[in-house]
Amino acid sequence: MSDQKKYALVTGATSGIGKELAKLLAKDQYNLVIVARNQDVLNDTANELKLESGVEIRTLAKDLFKREAAFEVYDEVKRQGIQIDVLVNDAGQGQYGEFVETDLNRELDIIQLNIGAYVILTKLFLKDMVARKEGKILNVASIASKLPGPYQAVYHGTKAFVHSFNEAVRSEIKDSGVTLTSLLPGVTDTDFFNKAEMQDSKIVQEGGMADPADVAKDGYEALMAGDDMVISGFKNKMQVSLGNITPDSMVADAMKKQQEPAEGKK
Ligand SMILES: NC(=O)c1ccc[n+]([C@@H]2O[C@H](COP(=O)([O-])OP(=O)(O)OC[C@H]3O[C@@H](n4cnc5c(N)ncnc54)[C@H](OP(=O)(O)O)[C@@H]3O)[C@@H](O)[C@H]2O)c1
Repeated sequence: MSDQKKYALVTGATSGIGKELAKLLAKDQYNLVIVARNQDVLNDTANELKLESGVEIRTLAKDLFKREAAFEVYDEVKRQGIQIDVLVNDAGQGQYGEFVETDLNRELDIIQLNIGAYVILTKLFLKDMVARKEGKILNVASIASKLPGPYQAVYHGTKAFVHSFNEAVRSEIKDSGVTLTSLLPGVTDTDFFNKAEMQDSKIVQEGGMADPADVAKDGYEALMAGDDMVISGFKNKMQVSLGNITPDSMVADAMKKQQEPAEGKK
């Protein structure tokens, strides 16, 4: 690394996997631009990270449910004269429930957050990176990218998009000096399930969730190595491998059993 400290931008850096990724970047002396909705929590996170690592942290409070917000993130970074060397698209949400019953407007917001914001930020920062012939992007997908997910149909669909998109763009820019990596975590102990109203599902009630710090470490190593993807955790690697050789309809039925409401919660 040159004397000039590099900058990483992390969406969703105030909680869960994104916060752990931000910690790893700060530990490696990347200055940070952190993005989430709540300014107070952003300030607390910035203070915490600064104390641990001494790097410079800028905060951007943006609601990425709104289409214009991702453009505003890019414009603000440019206005502040910051060059982003590493982009981490992490902010994402899900919604639990049967598709015929769930709130369509919330699902459209989730599509904007999990897909729209990823595409906008990847496009805008990637153009700059390709022009400089260097840069790294981590798009947080999920093992949901590989497994149709009853009770979370829209969420799993958005994550399938992220991983497919990542591999396709990566192939286009293979010789550019820029890398795109997708991180595929399994069930991880974060606030995700509260936001998704998923506490009564079997998958949450039965426990056995990964530590977000371990998941972030896997993602960080893959990002720095320039790998195309990493599935975090042995059990998740096995589940995806099995899914690859099983008819999609059977995978969906098996996932339905995993994700349905727990006994007594139906
Ligand atoms: N937890 C899991 O089991 C799991 C598994 C596979 C993949 N993932 C993926 O991992 C990523 C991170 O999730 P997590 O589990 O770490 O969840 P989390 O603890 O709920 O963290 C989500 C982060 O995104 C931010 N965020 C949420 N909605 C936002 C919005 N509309 N605009 C801007 N920022 C927003 C949150 O801050 P504010 O709420 O303050 O905005 C927070 O910083 C997501 O893409 C998720 O799909 C999670």
